[in-house]
Amino acid sequence: MLVVLLKREGYEATAVASGEQALLELEQRSYDVVISDIRMPKLGGLELVDEIHRRGIATTVILMTAFGSIDVAIEAMKRGAYDYISKPFRPDEIVLVLKKAEERERLFRENASLKQALAERRKDDEVKGIGGIIAGGKAMAEILRTTRKIAEYKTTVLVTGESGTGKELVARAIHDLSPRKDMPFVAVNCGAIPETLIESELFGHKKGSFTDAIRDKKGLFEEASGGTLFLDEIGELPLGPQVKLLRVLQEQVVRAIGSVNDEKVDVRVVAATVRDLGTEVREGRFREDLFYRLNVIQVHLPPLRERPEDIQMLVEHFIKRTNVKLGTKTEGASPEAMKVLLDYTWPGNVRELENTIERSMVLSDGARIEMEGLPEKLRENRDRIRQTLRSGELSIKKTTRIIEEELIRKALRETGGNRTNAAKILEISHRALLYKIKEFGIE
Ligand SMILES: Nc1ncnc2c1ncn2[C@@H]1O[C@H](COP(=O)(O)OP(=O)(O)OP(=O)(O)O)[C@@H](O)[C@H]1O
Ligand SMILES: [Mg+2]
Repeated sequence: MLVVLLKREGYEATAVASGEQALLELEQRSYDVVISDIRMPKLGGLELVDEIHRRGIATTVILMTAFGSIDVAIEAMKRGAYDYISKPFRPDEIVLVLKKAEERERLFRENASLKQALAERRKDDEVKGIGGIIAGGKAMAEILRTTRKIAEYKTTVLVTGESGTGKELVARAIHDLSPRKDMPFVAVNCGAIPETLIESELFGHKKGSFTDAIRDKKGLFEEASGGTLFLDEIGELPLGPQVKLLRVLQEQVVRAIGSVNDEKVDVRVVAATVRDLGTEVREGRFREDLFYRLNVIQVHLPPLRERPEDIQMLVEHFIKRTNVKLGTKTEGASPEAMKVLLDYTWPGNVRELENTIERSMVLSDGARIEMEGLPEKLRENRDRIRQTLRSGELSIKKTTRIIEEELIRKALRETGGNRTNAAKILEISHRALLYKIKEFGIE
């Protein structure tokens, strides 16, 4: 009766005679919905629900209950059945339940596909990075997330980190991801302009305002109008210009040198520095009020030695890029070379890694970057152990000390300096580790 009814409603329907047959059928073909009795010989409705669940069959189960067995139906729903319908029922009742189930199914699928799309996009960002920023590990992924989030607001951002950690890259990404992306991105290195010219560079000047001012000059704030002004090395800005900059940030107006009028400006400011501005403030080289004005949001880029998990992906990225740039055909780094790259501490951070890769690609003639093609200083650590082993030194004490020191340095690098975790990896006590760190003079 149900098959006839459902077919008339436009469904495809198959009838089977028992719970066991239903399972066989469900294994063969996929069904959107199962409509089942509860009381059946051998495999009952409840067990059928359990079995469908256990076998991981994706389908929606609707149970038909006789009058008086509603408790069982509720139990079935607890176990994962979708709904129940009491017998006897009218045709439109069963159609209504099916329509509801379909709607739920549609929402499920939509939700699943949206989630997947979102996950893929996230993975994409993390792998390819945004604005060419490679993020292999958690730390950089978090920075990318922050970058994406803050990009859309006009707040001032202060990007900090050692030289070569990618501050400028992040500043550009903030601009590229912002609603201002089609307006200018103007970068200025505050440390590279002579003190006497900084103010006129930033704010512009009027003809005749000083000896060399032979015509009106637009300032960088005006050039960046509607877009983003990147104040690189802001820590180098002398105190005088700092006062003027603070006023621009606070009042959103610029007054060119020699002018009597304030011009309204709409510019987002991103600043970067390798210095610790907190210290600069304490030592009187940087204005505290300007520091707070700039430091609304801070993005700190950790040094590369604290995120070795980024190295492999960066190496691959730089190899690909250099291949395009120089027409080389390097396929990758040998496992040995990669190990050396992973072990090095990279004082010059990503920029040093980038230069190292490019240099070794130019110098090598093989398809791979080999350990021998890497600069001496990268190989030093490994060579120290090798040399000791090769030197004929037989003292276990001396040799193990060198190996111990290497292992400890490595464990500390891998744990980002976390001594508790490093001790665990090294399988020594925390106290022993602290003692050895001191003994070897590791910083
Ligand atoms: N996460 C990254 N993914 C890809 N390339 C990166 C990444 N970080 C840095 N780089 C590259 O490393 C180089 C240095 O980056 P950038 O110029 O942004 O550093 P910086 O912090 O501004 O350094 P400095 O303080 O010396 O100016 C650039 O060529 C940049 O493209
Ligand atoms: Mg820079």
